[in-house]
Amino acid sequence: MRKLFEETQINGMILANRFVRSATWEGLSNDDGSVTPRLLDCMIALVKGGVGLIISGHAYVQRAGQASFLQLGAYSDDLLPGLTAMADAVHKNNGKIVLQLAHAGVFANTKLTKVPSFAVSDIGETSKSPHSVLTLPDIKQIVQNFADGAKRAKKAGFDGVQIHAAHGYLISQFLSPAFNRRTDEYGGSIENRARILMGVLKSVRNSVGPDYPVMVKMNVADFIENGLELKDSVQAGKILESEGIDAIELSGGVLTGGKLIPSRKGINSEAKEAYFLQEAKAFRENTSVPLILVGGNRSFKMAEKIIADGTVDYISMCRPLIREPGLINRWKSGDIAKSACISDNQCFGPALAGEGVCCVTEKKEHV
Ligand SMILES: Cc1cc2nc3c(=O)[nH]c(=O)nc-3n(C[C@H](O)[C@H](O)[C@H](O)COP(=O)(O)O)c2cc1C
Repeated sequence: MRKLFEETQINGMILANRFVRSATWEGLSNDDGSVTPRLLDCMIALVKGGVGLIISGHAYVQRAGQASFLQLGAYSDDLLPGLTAMADAVHKNNGKIVLQLAHAGVFANTKLTKVPSFAVSDIGETSKSPHSVLTLPDIKQIVQNFADGAKRAKKAGFDGVQIHAAHGYLISQFLSPAFNRRTDEYGGSIENRARILMGVLKSVRNSVGPDYPVMVKMNVADFIENGLELKDSVQAGKILESEGIDAIELSGGVLTGGKLIPSRKGINSEAKEAYFLQEAKAFRENTSVPLILVGGNRSFKMAEKIIADGTVDYISMCRPLIREPGLINRWKSGDIAKSACISDNQCFGPALAGEGVCCVTEKKEHV
């Protein structure tokens, strides 16, 4: 029977346990996306806390693709010294770290980027800020930017990369009929809507070689009207597997998705935990690629069960590790009380205020 605390590997990357820190925008980079000492401290706290694999916050591969204030960047060789320090900090503490490569598409923050954002199709309701519809040369450029970002990750010493294809950002916008009304080879069938993702995977693979872990984070479904549905996401998963993806992290929802956003609130019972588990089963039935499950994982017992029954291979968490970076070592020590995270999403507040992501609720409990 598979266990949470056992060594595994993803395309040669040896992981000490089956816990993953899901990508988390920390709001701890400089204005230009470079790494700060506080971001290094955050990585060190996570690795010392026992998580088997850290996935960095989303790092924008093109300046026009920046989503957030003080977001990590991967768009220029000038960022290499900081990225190298980040990978080194994790390795010195015997951890593993993957760089998440991202482009926000129409949800880019145009106040920061100072250029119109890129829309997959012109469907006015997606963005109030100025945007232009992606041309074929624009798509080619972005695919190249992902490959260049991956090359930088490898050069900086990261153990792998994760392509961000979830949550309504650019690649997810292509996958989603709610955003993608294109009539060219990038729109229509799921094979067409997944074309940019496969193009990114191929060019990333070409730039890093066969022995370097390349993973993807994608939605099992968008949970919005006319959004990506499970049957199509599973089909995309099958194509990814045939194109040589090394692992798929399963998430869901889009940022504008009301209650069914990626970071759902009020996970206060076991029944609400692991909120993409049912959809993950469909992926398991149709693919044999390593699967990482994120979204509402809160208790050791539930995580243990999901791993033991083989539904997925890794348990990924974001908010519980903001609340308690040492959660994994606590569980390993035998104290298996569930995460104290109450999923109120207050952790976004300090990051938006420029102070870096942290658990506001914990601070209130300690005054
Ligand atoms: C503050 C914050 C920042 C996040 N940043 C990212 C990100 O950079 N990339 C990403 O793919 N998901 C991001 N997410 C989503 C999480 O990785 C995760 O998918 C979601 O929060 C559900 O997992 P959880 O219930 O363990 O928090 C973020 C979530 C939070 C709360």
